[in-house]
Order: sequence, then structure tokens, then C-alpha cells
Amino acid sequence: MSNTYKIAVVPGDGTGPEVVTEGVKVLEAASSRFGFKLDMKWYDYGGERYKKTGEVLPEGAVEEMKKYQAIYLGAIGHPDVKPGILEKGILLYLRFALDQYINLRPVVLYPGVETPLKDKKPEDIDFVVVRENTEGLYAGAGGVLKKGTPDEVAIQESINTRKGVERCIRFAFEYCRKRNKRKTVTLCGKTNVLTFAFDLWERAFYEVAKEYPDIKTDYAHVDATCMWMVKNPEWFDVIVTDNMFGDIITDLGAMIQGGMGIAAGGNINPQGVSMYEPIGGSAPKYTGKNVINPMAAICAGAMMLDQLGEAPAGKAIEDAVKMAVSKDLKSLSAGKMGFSTTEVGDLVANYVKG
Ligand code: IPM
Ligand code: MN
Repeated sequence: MSNTYKIAVVPGDGTGPEVVTEGVKVLEAASSRFGFKLDMKWYDYGGERYKKTGEVLPEGAVEEMKKYQAIYLGAIGHPDVKPGILEKGILLYLRFALDQYINLRPVVLYPGVETPLKDKKPEDIDFVVVRENTEGLYAGAGGVLKKGTPDEVAIQESINTRKGVERCIRFAFEYCRKRNKRKTVTLCGKTNVLTFAFDLWERAFYEVAKEYPDIKTDYAHVDATCMWMVKNPEWFDVIVTDNMFGDIITDLGAMIQGGMGIAAGGNINPQGVSMYEPIGGSAPKYTGKNVINPMAAICAGAMMLDQLGEAPAGKAIEDAVKMAVSKDLKSLSAGKMGFSTTEVGDLVANYVKG
């Protein structure tokens, strides 16, 4: 009996549907080669649905998503909808409600891909950011007083719970051990200024580290982390950090690995339903033009298969992506690949089929 995986597909807004369609094409190629089945159901959550119905997510959406083993997401964000409504109402809501407390974002330079970092090669850019995904500044704590007056007060608080911080740090150490590369976890924080939040992080970090004598520890302030990511990315193996810093440094990470077109991530609940997505967003100006790079969505699909227990299939997709970017694509940027979105999907799917 071959395994069957139930996947909820949420293409979302903008170029989301285009990249997800190619991702699904590649996932299907992997399923036929490796002999597992994918039972996929598509959901229309996103800006268009919101404009029609006035609701961001239908009632029961979270319960509905819990019926699946994973969620495959395109992008959330619509030019006609005020920023924040869909992002908070769909993307962050699902991350929180499904307790996807890890945002795992690999930063890998594939062979043949151009990085803006002079003289850096694939062996120099190969690390992963473990971003806490349910707390920090994203928790929504705070409020406003006297809005619109000269006395306006706006407070946005960072929530850091011992439990939340510790489970994230533990995930980072486990992941580092499993990854088995430079065997170093770097805590990225701001202990010199954010002396409440990052004191908790720092204590939890060194306490958890004691359980992993085989893993080295390192610490860098977030500003310095940005500097080292550009100057000496080869120093990093696994970086663990809070939600806001993780958001920021992974955009920088995406750029050094060749761009948003190839940056994938997983919102992971190790005991629950995880959600995989390209980290780039909905790219409205490229919507419907068949020019967007679907590689990030394809790589997110590979991460999903890996987590579902189909590691060889995940690796086959990654290898196929490496082939395509090193041999075929002229660039990773939208419109400059030398191929259309659908052609890139075909190319990778064919490499996966072998
Ligand atoms: C990301 C995005 C989201 C975030 C936005 C769209 C809410 O930037 O996944 O990194 O800030 O987490
Ligand atoms: Mn972001």
C-alpha cells in the first residue's frame, strides 16, 4: 500500500495561484516517480474571496485545515485590500491557530545562481533560520490611546513566554543535530538593549544548549547578524531568533541566496498541521503574466514532502531545482528567467521524473 497524503492547497492572491500550480505539477511528478499519493483539495482563501464575501476566512476554516497533513500556500496580500487585513486575518491567523511555532527558512545558494555577495560560493551560503512564529511583536499585544490627536499613544509589546521561546530553541538544536553540518546554533537577539525579552531568550538558550554537548553555541546581536550574513555567511549553520528579527533577516537571507524567486519556508507545528510557502508575497505587478519564478513554491513543496516522510522525493525535487537553475535559467528574477512560469514548472517536473 502506498502512502496517501491529504494536502490543503491555498493558492491565495496575486501570483500565488501561478506559482502553486507549478509547485503542484512538480509534486505530482514526484508522487508518480516515488509511488505515494497526494489527495489535494483547493481553497479560495484570499483577497478575491474577501472582496466578494466580506470575510477573511470562513467559519470553521481552522477546523477544516486540521483535517489535512499539510497546507501548501501561495501568497496572501491583495492590492485592493488595506494592508494587514488579509495578512493578519489569514496568514498570521493560521500560523497562530495551528500553533505553527517554527518558521523554518533555509538560506542556500544553489550552484549556478548569482548572489550579490562578491566571491561567495554555494559552500559559503548554506544555513537555516529558525524563526519563532507565534509570539514576539506579532502577538498583537498593545493598543492605542487618543488616536488621531497630538497626544496619541501607540504601544506594541513583544510577548516572549518561557515555553514558547524554549520550544523554538529546542527545535533549532534538534534541527542542527539532524542537519549535521557545521553543528553550530547562533542565537540572534539584542541583549544589549532588549534586556527583558532577550535575557529570557539567552537564559533559555544556554540551558537548552547543555542538553546538546555535540552542538556549538554562538550569539550575535541582530544588527551584527545582518552584517555577518553579508560579510561572512559561511559562519552560520542554524540561526535561532524571535519573530520580528526572523522576519527581517530572512528577507536579507533571500537576497543573498539569489532572490525571493527561490526562497522557501515552512510554518511548522511538529505535532500538528504545518504550512509551506514561498516567502516572497503576492507580487501584484507580475500577476497573470506567466513571468513569476515558481522555484520558491517548488522548493516549499520539497520541504513539505521531506516533513511528510518522503525525504527522497523532497531531495529529488531539490536536485531538479539545482539542475534547472544551474543549467537552464538565465536568472531567478521574474521576466528574466528565459522561461515562462509554466515552462519552469515543466522543466523541474521533467527533471524530477528522471
Ligand atoms: C513573511 C511575511 C509575513 C510576516 C507578512 C506578510 C505578515 O513578511 O512571511 O515573512 O511578516 O511574517
Ligand atoms: Mn517577511
